[in-house]
Amino acid sequence: MEPDPTCIGRVRHVLGSTVTVRLDPDLAGVAPIWRGQVQPLGQVGSLVVLPQGPVTVLASVVLVGISELVGEQAPSAIVQTGDRWLQIQLLGEVDALGSFQRGVSTYPALDDPVHFSAPGILQQVHPTAAETHVKIGSLSANPEVAVALDAQRLVTRHSVVVGSTGSGKTSAVATILQQFVRAGWTAANVVVIDPHGEYATALGEMASVRSVTSAGEQGLRVPYWALPAEDILTALAGGTSATTLNRFSELVAEQRRTYAEGCSWLQDSSAITADTPVPFDLHQVWYQLDYENNATVTAKTGGQDCVEDTGDPRGLRPAVFKPYAPGSATPMQGPMYGRHGSAPTQIRSRMRDPRYSFFLQPDDTTVDHDPFTDVLDEWLGGSQPVSVLDFSGVPSDAADLAIGVVLQLLFELSVRSSASVGVGRHRPVLAVMEEAHRFLGEGTTVRVARESVNRIAREGRKYGIGVMLVSQRPSELPDTSLSQAGTIIALRLTNAGDQARVRSGLPDTLAGLADVLPSLRTGEALVTGESVSLPSRVLIDMPFPVPTATDPDLGGWRGEALPNDLTTALAQWRAIETNDGEAP
Ligand SMILES: Nc1ncnc2c1ncn2[C@@H]1O[C@H](COP(=O)(O)OP(=O)(O)OP(=O)(O)O)[C@@H](O)[C@H]1O
Ligand SMILES: [Mg+2]
Repeated sequence: MEPDPTCIGRVRHVLGSTVTVRLDPDLAGVAPIWRGQVQPLGQVGSLVVLPQGPVTVLASVVLVGISELVGEQAPSAIVQTGDRWLQIQLLGEVDALGSFQRGVSTYPALDDPVHFSAPGILQQVHPTAAETHVKIGSLSANPEVAVALDAQRLVTRHSVVVGSTGSGKTSAVATILQQFVRAGWTAANVVVIDPHGEYATALGEMASVRSVTSAGEQGLRVPYWALPAEDILTALAGGTSATTLNRFSELVAEQRRTYAEGCSWLQDSSAITADTPVPFDLHQVWYQLDYENNATVTAKTGGQDCVEDTGDPRGLRPAVFKPYAPGSATPMQGPMYGRHGSAPTQIRSRMRDPRYSFFLQPDDTTVDHDPFTDVLDEWLGGSQPVSVLDFSGVPSDAADLAIGVVLQLLFELSVRSSASVGVGRHRPVLAVMEEAHRFLGEGTTVRVARESVNRIAREGRKYGIGVMLVSQRPSELPDTSLSQAGTIIALRLTNAGDQARVRSGLPDTLAGLADVLPSLRTGEALVTGESVSLPSRVLIDMPFPVPTATDPDLGGWRGEALPNDLTTALAQWRAIETNDGEAP
C-alpha cells in the first residue's frame, strides 16, 4: 500500500494530553512539501492531526527534538537513539459532522499515525468572519486560513494586547477596530483612550476624535464636577491635610446644593452630597477656602474680618486682608488662618493652567439641560461606532486622573443602565486603553485609573463593559487585569520578565508556546483564549489606513547646524509656570 503522504510519524507515548510522536525516519527534514506547499510541522505552534475513527484529534507542537540531545528526559527513554520526535499537546477534535470542539473524548493509542494538518481541516477549526466573528489576520503557518475572533467574547470577557515597542500593537488594535466597523458592527460603542494621539488617522472615518488640546467640536472635556470632592482636591492640590479635605468637601456639597436648587432640570436636590455628579462653581469653593486660609480678624470670637479687598471669585482674584499684628494686638489671625497651607494657591494655579482647561469645562452652570449628558455623549462618540479620546499634551498626572475618571464613569453608567436603555447590557461598551502599564502600574500616584480598570476587569462582564489593555510591559499590569483577560494577543516580547508574565497567563499545557514570543515577526502574534478556537500563531492584517506611529526623523541631524530655537517651547512652558506666583 502506498504510504499516506500526509503521515509524519507515530504515537510513542501518551501522558494525559501530552503525546510524544516519533517522526518517520523516511521523512526528509521536518518541513515536508505537500501539494507545492512547505508544511512547517517542525515548528513550535504548528498543528498536527490524529485521525481517531470518525473524529479527528488536533494537537499543537510544543517541543521538537532529537533524542540524544535531551538527556534524561522522558522522550529519550522511549524513542530510539537518533530518532527525531515531536511533543504535541492535544487541543480538541473535529467530529464526523465537521464541527470543532475543544477538549478530546478519544485519546490516541500507541502507534497511531500522526499527520500534518492540511488547510482544509484548519478552515473547519477556525470560524470564518461572520455575524459573530471578526477577522484579524491569518495563520502564520497557513496564510490561506483566516483567523477570526469571537466578537462577543473579545468584548465582554476583556483582552490584552502585549508586545515590545514596535512589535505592532497599535496596528493590531487599529485592524481589529476597523474590521469591527467594516464587518457591520456600525453601532458599536468603542472608546479608545489614546495617550499619544495615534489613532485619529487610522480610525478617522469611523470615529469621533476628540482631543484635550482642541477647542469646540473636537474638544474633549472631563469636567471636575463629575468627580467626588476628594478626587477633585487630589487633582488640583495633590495630597492635603484631613482638615482641608473636610472643609473642601463641605464647601463642594454646599455649592452642589446651591446649583441644584437653582436649576430647572433637577427635580430633587435633597440627596445631593459632596460626591453627587452635578455641576457646581469651583471658583466659589476656591475663594472660600482661600478666604479662610488668609482671614485676619478683630477678635478671636465675634470679631470682624479685616478685609482690604474682597477680590473676585470668578476672576480668581483672592481676597486681601490686613496683615496680622504681633502678639495679641489686632488684627489677629482668623480661626482657620494657614490651616489649609498652600492648597488654595495650588488650586488657583491649576485652575489658571491652560493644560488643565479640559478639566474645568463645561463650567457654564446656567444651561437649561443636564450638561453631563452632553459630556458623556462626547465620550461615547455620539452616533459614531468608535470614539477616540486623545490625551496627548496633558500633564501625566492630569491624564492619569482624567482617564481614570472616564473609565470610572463609563463603568458607573453601565452599572446603572437598564437592560433596555442606555449603555452596558443594552449596548456593551469596549474601552481600549493604550499604554495601559503607564496608568495601571504599581508606581502610579493617581489610583483612579488603576482601580477603575480592576473593577471593570472583575465585574464589567455582568454590566456589559469590557476593556482591551494594550501594553509594552505586561509585567507591570495589575494581576487582576491580566488574569481576567479572556483573550491574550501577545506580539513579540523580548523582555524575559514580560514573557514569564504572558506564560503564566497561558494554561499549563500550552506554556511551551510562550517560547516563541521573542522570535515573532512584527505584526505576528500568539493569540490564545476564549475568543479563538485554538491558540494560534497569527499574522495580523495590516490596518488601512495605518495609525500615526512614526518615529522622529533623524533627517535634522544631517542638515545645516543652526542654533536650536527654543523660544516657543520656553514661552509655552512659562505661560504656565509664571501663572503660579504672579499677582493677577
Ligand atoms: N501586521 C503588520 N505587518 C507588517 N508590519 C507591521 C504590522 N503591524 C505593524 N507593522 C509595522 O510595525 C511598526 C510598529 O507598529 P506599531 O506602532 O503598531 O507598534 P507598537 O507595538 O504599537 O509600538 P509602540 O509600543 O512603540 O507603540 C510600524 O511601522 C508598522 O508599520
Ligand atoms: Mg503603539
